[in-house]
Amino acid sequence: MNMHPDLAILGFGTMGQAISAGLVEASGYPAARLRVATRHPAGAVRARAEALGITLSGDAAAAVKAAEVVLLCVKPKELKGLLAGLAAAGALDHRPLVVSIAAGTTLDFLAAHTPEGTPLVRAMPNTPCAIRRGMTVLAAGQGVTGAQLAQARALFEPLGRVMDLDEKHMDAVTGLSASGPAFMFVILESLAEGGVQCGLPRAVALELAAQMTLGAASMVLETGRHPAALKDEVTTPAGCTIAGLMVLEDGRIRSVVARGIERATQVAAGLG
Ligand SMILES: NC(=O)c1ccc[n+]([C@@H]2O[C@H](COP(=O)([O-])OP(=O)(O)OC[C@H]3O[C@@H](n4cnc5c(N)ncnc54)[C@H](OP(=O)(O)O)[C@@H]3O)[C@@H](O)[C@H]2O)c1
Repeated sequence: MNMHPDLAILGFGTMGQAISAGLVEASGYPAARLRVATRHPAGAVRARAEALGITLSGDAAAAVKAAEVVLLCVKPKELKGLLAGLAAAGALDHRPLVVSIAAGTTLDFLAAHTPEGTPLVRAMPNTPCAIRRGMTVLAAGQGVTGAQLAQARALFEPLGRVMDLDEKHMDAVTGLSASGPAFMFVILESLAEGGVQCGLPRAVALELAAQMTLGAASMVLETGRHPAALKDEVTTPAGCTIAGLMVLEDGRIRSVVARGIERATQVAAGLG
C-alpha cells in the first residue's frame, strides 16, 4: 500500500489546517503530494500553507483530478454544492477514495452526491491531530475494501489514535471526541482559575492544570483502569481531595459534563 498517496484536501479552515499540519510537520507526509483547495486561497491561509510548503489553490476540481484520496474538510452545509461542482467537472470520474470529516453527514448522503461506485469513508478527527495527539473514528461505506479502509486509516494514524466504529455512533463521537477539546479547554481554564484564586501565578496555574490533565488521561489510557478506581486511590478519608470532590458533586459536575456531550451529539446529528 502506498503510504503517501496523492492527496487532495478540500477546505483549509480549522480542521484542514490541523490535519495538513499534522501530516506535513508531524508525520513527514511529503508536501508535494498534497494539494489543498479552499474557496479563498489568499491572506493568512495562504501564508499558513506556504509555511507548511503546501500548494494552496482555489481549484478544487483540479486538486481532486490529480488525487488518489480526497479529504473533505468543509462545513456540512457546503458539501452538497462542492460535490455537485466536482461531479459536473468530472473530477471524481476516476473514483478516488473520498474521506469526509463533515459532522452529521451520512454515508448515504455522500453516496447520493458522488458518482456511483465511489469508495466512501466517514472520519471524525479532532484538532489535536495537529500535534499528533488526535482521536479519529472511521466508518467505512458499502463496498469499501480492506485496502481502502487501511489507506484512510494510514492518513490519520500518524496524527494520533484511530478507531473503527459503526456509522450509527458517529454523532456521539462528534459530541464527545470532536467537540471535546473545547470542553476540556474550558475545564482547564477553570482549574487554572482555581489555582489563581489560591495565589498561584496564572502561567504556573495553567501549566500545572494542563500537565495534570495530561497525566490523568494518560493513566487511564496506559493502565486501562477505570477512572473511579484511580480516583478512589487518591482520596484519603477526611482529606483535601474528598473535600474538593464534594464541592464538584454539589455542582453536579458529572451530569453537567455528560449532558453537554448529549447536547453536542443532538446538534451534530442535525448538521448534515
Ligand atoms: N472544528 C472541529 O473541531 C471539527 C472536528 C471534527 C470535524 N469537523 C468537521 O470538519 C469540517 C470543517 O470544519 P472546520 O471547523 O475546519 O471549518 P472551517 O474552519 O469553517 O473551514 C472550512 C473550510 O472550507 C472551505 N470551503 C468552504 N466551501 C468550499 C468549497 N466549495 N471548496 C473548497 N473549500 C471550501 C472554507 O474556505 P473559505 O473560508 O475560503 O470559505 C474553509 O477553509 C466540518 O464539516 C466539521 O463538521 C470539525
